[in-house]
Amino acid sequence: MAKKKLAILTGGGDCPGLNPAIRGVVMKASRLGYECLGIQEGWKGMISGCAKPLALEDVEEIVRLGGTILGTSRTNPYKKEGGVRSVLETFKKLDLHALVAMGGEDTLGVAGKLYKEQGLNVVGVPKTMDNDLSATDYTFGFDSAVTIAVDAAERLIDTGRSHRRAMVLEVMGRHAGWVSLFTGIAAGADYICIPERPVDVKDMSAKVKAAHARKKVALVVCSEAVNMGSAGEEKLDEFGHMILKERGVGERIAKIVEKETSIETRHAVIGHIQRGGAPTLFDRILGTRVGLKAAELVDAGQFGKMVALRGNDVLGVSLEEATSKLKTVPPEWFEIMDTLTGAQAGAGAAR
Ligand code: F6P
Repeated sequence: MAKKKLAILTGGGDCPGLNPAIRGVVMKASRLGYECLGIQEGWKGMISGCAKPLALEDVEEIVRLGGTILGTSRTNPYKKEGGVRSVLETFKKLDLHALVAMGGEDTLGVAGKLYKEQGLNVVGVPKTMDNDLSATDYTFGFDSAVTIAVDAAERLIDTGRSHRRAMVLEVMGRHAGWVSLFTGIAAGADYICIPERPVDVKDMSAKVKAAHARKKVALVVCSEAVNMGSAGEEKLDEFGHMILKERGVGERIAKIVEKETSIETRHAVIGHIQRGGAPTLFDRILGTRVGLKAAELVDAGQFGKMVALRGNDVLGVSLEEATSKLKTVPPEWFEIMDTLTGAQAGAGAAR
């Protein structure tokens, strides 16, 4: 009897952890008797019908590799003339039993719609360095991105201290402040700017000034999506998202800091460096676990589901639930940010 076919695609921005997840799906699916195919470059490959066989030997060494061996794109079939029809034709032509779509809210939003409206056998795997998918505690890619950003922040502190400067680090993360928040906390930043909270220029300047007086350096970590007012004409991608790298948030914050504190200030934007390189241990394990689980969900006929990490368990949740709301930083974190930034040397010593 011919083997059932399972295809995998990776869509949206790449991130470390995708290759371990692909490996997880292929290893489990092969054991369950499936033949695996890799769709090239996300939904673009489902529209054009571009697929390659994925055998065990194609994946056995990829757990340590960054990026995605399948390639990716930000193609939205719902925004292309005849796009959905082509996806359905490819599914039929390749004689697929199921499709595992790995992506963030956009890629998985398309997967959820194809399941709901067209009855397609899809299972979702959450990936994004932004960590902004609400149905899962963490997405792979986030830990690697923050690890890189913390390393960058520590380098900025070294050079900043030598020159007695204030340093501003701009990180990605789109409209959720998780990357900025975790980087700022882990690197011991003196101020953290996230999109969920307006920047209090007075507070930021006072904290930078005080930190600089104590340590001869001060660090501000800011998210690319912090609201600094209009940055001129905003460009949108195929999913209608603002292209944030052109807003120059880090540079604008650095100028404000320098003006308000009279401390020489420099900024750095690490951009896509956060998305490259080998996955961290956490992302290798999480990617692998969600990949294995995705193959199990396919085999159990649990379509329209996304694999989620809840506590220490990986389980299936509805794709619709997973993509309906963005997970932004809740106000409970604001107090933690305030407690950890702007420390006063000697505070509490009298107690
Ligand atoms: O969603 C991941 C992400 O890295 C965001 O943090 C960032 O705003 C965006 O992708 C950048 O997209 P691109 O790779 O298309 O420039």
